[in-house]
Amino acid sequence: MPLTREEAAGRIMVALDYPDAASAQRLLEELSGIPCYMKVGMQLFYAAGPAFVASLKEKGYSVFLDLKMHDIPNTVKGGAASVTRLGVDLFNVHAAGGAAMMEAAMEGVASANVYGRRPLVIAVTQLTSTSQNVLNEEIGIAGSVEDAVLRYAKLTAACGLDGVVASPQEVTAVKEACGHSFLTVTPGIRPAGAALGDQSRIMTPAQAITQGTDYMVIGRPITGAADPRAALESILEELVHA
Ligand code: C5P
Repeated sequence: MPLTREEAAGRIMVALDYPDAASAQRLLEELSGIPCYMKVGMQLFYAAGPAFVASLKEKGYSVFLDLKMHDIPNTVKGGAASVTRLGVDLFNVHAAGGAAMMEAAMEGVASANVYGRRPLVIAVTQLTSTSQNVLNEEIGIAGSVEDAVLRYAKLTAACGLDGVVASPQEVTAVKEACGHSFLTVTPGIRPAGAALGDQSRIMTPAQAITQGTDYMVIGRPITGAADPRAALESILEELVHA
C-alpha cells in the first residue's frame, strides 16, 4: 500500500546533528509543518540537553533520543530512568553491552514510567559506518556483518526490547529472525546522488521502505542540503511513489 505524504513524514527521523540549540532551531523552522520524527543525538544533547528535548515535545514532535547507552547495567538502568522521565518517545542502547545491560535498561524504564506510556527502547547492532573489514580487523568480531547484526538482534528481542538500529540492507533478515512487529530503525539512507559521508551500508529511501524499514534516520542529505525543505520534500515524494 502506498504511503500518504503524512505517513511518509512520520517514518522519517531527521537527525538534528547540530552543535547548539539555535542551529537546530533554524532547521526546525525551515521544516515547520512537516510531521517528521526528530532525532537528538549526542552532539546536540551534550550541548543543549533536556531543555531542547522538552522544547521539541512542546512543539508536538515525536523524539528519538539517540545516546547509544553502553555501560555497566546499573548505570544504564539509571540512564534509562532519566531519559524516560524526559518524556522521549524512543531511545537506544548498544546491544554489545549484553543481555544484563539491556534488561537493566528495561528495568530503568519501568521504574520511571511516569507518563503511563513508556518509550520504545531499541538497540544498536552494528553502526552503519562499520564495514566488513572494520568488524573483523579492528573490532575483532569474526564472520559477516549480517551474522553479527542478526546475533545482536536476536539477543535484543530476547531481552524484551522493541527493536534494533540496523542498516536497511539487514531489515529483511532481522524481521525474519525476530518477527514482523520487531522495529527496525535504519540510518545509512542516501537518496540517489547524495554524498556517502562516513556511511558504508546504505540504501535509497525508496529501497529502504520497500525492504520494510519502520523508520529511516536521515541526517546530512537533509541538514547539509542547500535547501533542506526541498531535500525533505523530494524524499517524501520518492516515498509516496515507492
Ligand atoms: O547524516 P547521516 O544521514 O549519515 O546521519 C545518520 C544519523 O544516524 C547520525 O545521527 C548517526 O549518529 C545516526 N546513527 C547511525 N548509525 C547507527 C545509529 C545511529 O548512523 N547505527
